[in-house]
Amino acid sequence: MENNTRPADMRRINTPQLAESFLSEQVAQVRQQVGDKKVLLALSGGVDSSVVAALLIRAIGKQLVCVHVNHGLMRKGESEQVIEVFKNQLDANLIYVDASDRFLDLLAGVDEPEQKRKIIGGEFIQVFAEEARKLEGITFLAQGTIYPDILESDGVKAHHNVGGLPEDLEFQLVEPLRLLYKDEVREVGRALGLPASMVERQPFPGPGLGVRCLGAITRDRLAALRESDAILREEFDKAGLAGQVWQYFTVVPDFRSTGVRDGKRAYDWPVIIRAVNTVDAMTATVPELPWAVLQAITGRVLAEVPGVCRVLYDLTPKPVGTIEWE
Ligand code: XMP
Repeated sequence: MENNTRPADMRRINTPQLAESFLSEQVAQVRQQVGDKKVLLALSGGVDSSVVAALLIRAIGKQLVCVHVNHGLMRKGESEQVIEVFKNQLDANLIYVDASDRFLDLLAGVDEPEQKRKIIGGEFIQVFAEEARKLEGITFLAQGTIYPDILESDGVKAHHNVGGLPEDLEFQLVEPLRLLYKDEVREVGRALGLPASMVERQPFPGPGLGVRCLGAITRDRLAALRESDAILREEFDKAGLAGQVWQYFTVVPDFRSTGVRDGKRAYDWPVIIRAVNTVDAMTATVPELPWAVLQAITGRVLAEVPGVCRVLYDLTPKPVGTIEWE
């Protein structure tokens, strides 16, 4: 069993030099652990799995097999970025699975939030297991477990985890980031040359846009959610707010309101802007966003996103409101 306790004298990795020396150690350690065997990794494109992937590519190259499952609930451009960075730039052994239809078909008509999460999590494992069974000679499973995961949940990764794999798929674990805090993972990611948009990414829940397309997910509202979220992120970037606000996204509820467009009555969806600051996600405050930024987002969403006739800014702190809407 690997050591899962951070030594009291372990230095905080907060410089490129410290990140490089961590990388040299881990590369040597992974090579020793893995030998000439193959390692499987579920690569979501989030910070942790991306950093693990880049580290393992440096250590064992094509012995690493990455599987990226697109569950149809990714943000705009996310799967494309995974393919661009890992397949095109780092020449990874990457299997891309577009399972969007499977997920969206299963979710059709399901409006209970926990049930939605269960379906998304369960189907993720199902799709990943199917891919794993097609592969031969895999001995190890790599995971982006980080130290807070170990502290908070006995080492079980809370989101997009593949911990629930069926019994015939029992692998030995490779978890090179397991003693690192999030800021250290980002430092290591930078040292590995990953793009800032990947390394600095705000938290994104495992069920993805599924918990922001409220109630029973429909493809039209999901498209409105994805487009409005992309606009919001672009406008935050332009205004220099990325990195200043902890988490920001849009939400599309499952009710409509009246509007007027081109002199005709419309009956369309609202888009809700959610932006929060927090230290540990247990409590959160709502930042006073510049009016010009709110107006720019509103103007663009109304002009560019079909089926939307209203934009709202959610001023609710946590508690009482949670960060996500469901
Ligand atoms: P709430 O909504 O509980 O969110 O205030 C706190 C933080 O957790 C994220 N979140 C999730 N992350 N799977 C995840 O991996 C989930 O089901 C999930 N639900 C909420 C949320 O984005 C916020 O950062």
